[in-house]
Amino acid sequence: MKGVTVVDHPLVQHKLTIMRDKETSTAGFRRLLREISLLLGYEVTRDLDLTTRSIETPIETMEAPTLEGKKLVFASVLRAGNGLLEGLLDLVPAARVAHIGLYRDHDTLEAIEYFFKAPSDLGDRLVIVVDPMLATANSAIAAIDKLKSRGATNIRFLCLLASPEGIERFTTSHPDVPVFTASIDRQLNEKGYIVPGLGDAGDRMYGTK
Ligand code: PRP
Ligand code: URA
Repeated sequence: MKGVTVVDHPLVQHKLTIMRDKETSTAGFRRLLREISLLLGYEVTRDLDLTTRSIETPIETMEAPTLEGKKLVFASVLRAGNGLLEGLLDLVPAARVAHIGLYRDHDTLEAIEYFFKAPSDLGDRLVIVVDPMLATANSAIAAIDKLKSRGATNIRFLCLLASPEGIERFTTSHPDVPVFTASIDRQLNEKGYIVPGLGDAGDRMYGTK
């Protein structure tokens, strides 16, 4: 599928299976999400541009590779995006962070915005939007609409699970935004949940059900 990368690494798939299991505890779910975020982060940053800088090793001077350009922005869609954000910040500690507060209205499944805070120079940076779930895609589309309205032009979307319906809607709305996911599941159910999925990611992370 154009613009969509499924990260099928065995470690990712193994950890995802444990996360899907309804017997997995809140603490276990959070730990696994953090671990998976490191592996997904490796893929979503795989082609970042490098430049070099001169350093002195204890042996000699060398031109050593270093990330080029302005610092990345990780944009977390609250609440569940924070589970991916923490691991990504371990990988790229100097990254900037945007927070986008959105929740799904239970009846309409529309995304309702309640918070937005981001660095002002989004247009100069690569923005990696993180949210574990791409279900109807209403939240992801709204998050990216907002980031684009604030100047972002170079955007990637990273999630854990996607539905085929969500991928279709998202890539139609934002064909310029590559998607990285660990799985495209079978379908959405009548309540807008991903099937087989893992349930409500925010509730499973924070034990709020
Ligand atoms: C979940 C999830 C996504 C959204 C996906 O958040 O983290 O943001 O649903 O669904 P969609 O693709 O149909 O929009 P939720 O609205 O449950 O908020 P929460 O993270 O605060 O629990
Ligand atoms: N949000 C979730 O957390 N899970 C789903 O399956 C769909 C939307």
